[in-house]
Amino acid sequence: SYPANVKMVEVGPRDGLQNEADIVPTEIKAELIDRLADCGLPVVEAGAFVSPRWVPQMADSAEVLAAIRPKEGVNYPVLVPNVKGLERALEMKVGEIAVFGAASESFTQKNINCSIAESLERFAPVMEQARGQGLRVRGYVSCVLGCPYEGDIAVSAVAEVAEALYKGGCYEISLGDTIGVGTAAKARAMVEAVAARIPVSDLALHFHDTYGQALANILSCLELGVATVDSSLAGLGGCPYAEGASGNVASEDVLYMLEGLGVETGVDLDRLIATAWWISERLGRKPASKVALARGAK
Ligand code: HMG
Ligand code: MG
Repeated sequence: SYPANVKMVEVGPRDGLQNEADIVPTEIKAELIDRLADCGLPVVEAGAFVSPRWVPQMADSAEVLAAIRPKEGVNYPVLVPNVKGLERALEMKVGEIAVFGAASESFTQKNINCSIAESLERFAPVMEQARGQGLRVRGYVSCVLGCPYEGDIAVSAVAEVAEALYKGGCYEISLGDTIGVGTAAKARAMVEAVAARIPVSDLALHFHDTYGQALANILSCLELGVATVDSSLAGLGGCPYAEGASGNVASEDVLYMLEGLGVETGVDLDRLIATAWWISERLGRKPASKVALARGAK
């Protein structure tokens, strides 16, 4: 059986846009976030307080946050890699941050320039200070179903990092198939290993769709009771530190599947599709999602 309700976490404005080569204007980013909130999405990841040299597209996250029209009841988390990022987030009075680790040593080095152990040491004061200031902290684990540099990743490595972040104070752990290589049975086994240490209600699925397996993987993990799914409208995205990785699973594809299962999300499919076409037009291309293409631009 499937959960009666699923929380959809929209990561398009961050994970989706971070990989765009051309800088997207601040006003477009802010309008995208507002449009997504108007679709009924309860969480819209709004940016990243990371080094602008590492990810130039996210350099204007403070300006984006200042430009949005915050909607009651919607969370607008931002990524934070260190205390410096937390300070920037606190200045903007965000309600939620996300720290991001990985189950692979090589990916951690490429992405945040340190080892897994160092990353956890770095996140400790971030999580503690954020919580002391009343912020909620989400934790990402990347490379849960494979690494662009190391190939297969042991589920025990995923479970260890996930548990460390959870014990450090993250209220939710998002499991990232960063390069979209996973398949359904593998995804299930990985979630089962993590769920042996963390309540399944506090896990989220963050699957990229490089090999077209994301929906199948999500479906197989919903059966285990996971009820939070990250996605990106129009299938935007990739990962700057994982060459060849395509975007997140498209939000409208996930929503179409959930509606078919009778799962409640509170998200309006027609509006989401219209928003997928809107941002795609601004980026000069068609949406990467089957559902948006099937329905066409309205
Ligand atoms: P570093 O070079 O080791 O850091 O980078 P540093 O502390 O030595 O600082 C170097 C410079 O960066 C200094 O500036 C700092 O001030 C500045 P300089 O003195 O040279 O002018 N700096 C900062 N500036 C702004 N905000 C900050 C900040 N921190 C340092 N917070 C660092 C280490 C972590 C900063 C860097 O590696 C970085 O920013 N990495 C971010 C990479 C990233 O954003 N990746 C994409 C997101 S993760 C993802 O997409 C996966 C996910 O979707 C899940 C999945 O799919 O698996 C979440
Ligand atoms: Mg991602």
